[in-house]
Amino acid sequence: MELSNLKVCKDYKILITGVAGFIGSNLLEFFLSKGLYVRGVDNFSIGFKKNIDEAVYGASKANKDIRFDFIEGDIRNYNICLKATKGIDIVLHEAALGSVQRSLNKPLESNSVNVDGTLNLLKASLENKINRFIYASSSSVYGDSDSLPKTEEMPLNPKSIYALTKLTAEYYCRLFFKLYGLETISLRYFNVFGKRQNPNSIYSAVIPRFLKNIMQDKLPVIYGDGNQSRDFTYIDNIIYANYLTTISDNPAIFGNFYNVACGNNVSLNEIIKIIGRLLNKKIISEYEKPRIGDIKHSLASVDKLKEDTGYSKIIDFKTGLKILLNSFMKKS
Ligand SMILES: NC(=O)c1ccc[n+]([C@@H]2O[C@H](COP(=O)([O-])OP(=O)(O)OC[C@H]3O[C@@H](n4cnc5c(N)ncnc54)[C@H](O)[C@@H]3O)[C@@H](O)[C@H]2O)c1
Repeated sequence: MELSNLKVCKDYKILITGVAGFIGSNLLEFFLSKGLYVRGVDNFSIGFKKNIDEAVYGASKANKDIRFDFIEGDIRNYNICLKATKGIDIVLHEAALGSVQRSLNKPLESNSVNVDGTLNLLKASLENKINRFIYASSSSVYGDSDSLPKTEEMPLNPKSIYALTKLTAEYYCRLFFKLYGLETISLRYFNVFGKRQNPNSIYSAVIPRFLKNIMQDKLPVIYGDGNQSRDFTYIDNIIYANYLTTISDNPAIFGNFYNVACGNNVSLNEIIKIIGRLLNKKIISEYEKPRIGDIKHSLASVDKLKEDTGYSKIIDFKTGLKILLNSFMKKS
């Protein structure tokens, strides 16, 4: 299964929030390449215009008739949300302040963007009678638990402000279905990686940070002993889950929440070894103190999403890492 072979039969009008970010710009490229009208909204607080430009350029290779509008604005402003959702069928809500560490440093801002911003969008979606609202939730809602893999029925135990904001927004999504019938779906992404993920911020995710350092012949930094593991998920799987929930006509998915992952986990030490093998060089890591708010292990069951939408991973971890490494090598 490849993303390029997927078909979208209806002419949905799609809104992508956080379109200048990593996942938003990849969703933009996908849906534009399928010929759909896409509107994007972003305030460029942490995203980049070049991500949008790259996505539009990438999509134009598959589809010459690009239909894209952009609104520069903040989802904390209700009028921006009203303008953004007008005439839209499906909202893919990716805008947020990500990173556990950022949320510990900036709890008020994280809450206002991730919770108030989502509530604004839900309310505006209702007012503009949009059909479906697909929310980018996070595996962080589970927190630490000895029992792996994580299934959607497990008790939740958010361990950071970021995780709590994602869970609160998820509950709002569920309630908007139960109270008002808005077709909401929450997708709990597990550690996503892929092209256009920013490697340059102090809050950057681990894989782009590793690759950037290794390409510059610097030591990759690991917080803790490196045995912590995650279900790292290549971006194409996330796009596939958004595609499936966009086109699904299974009413069981509304007001519901799903893990999106590969269903395998890998430790940070193993990642360094794999990169070393791919580059044919011995890589030494630098170890620093573990960070608060970080969990030890994470691994998803994706059975529920499979049962309700037919999802299964389309790119496994090693293949995704190889693709990303090649794109880093081309750039450097
Ligand atoms: N990347 C991951 O591993 C991961 C894992 C789980 C969940 N998620 C969720 O997926 C979504 C997308 O993540 P990402 O990695 O692409 O993040 P990102 O930081 O690359 O993109 C987020 C985008 O949202 C925009 N934004 C932030 N605040 C805004 C505001 N107030 N108004 C308008 N736009 C605003 C930013 O400018 C940025 O372009 C987020 O909701 C995140 O919580 C990501």
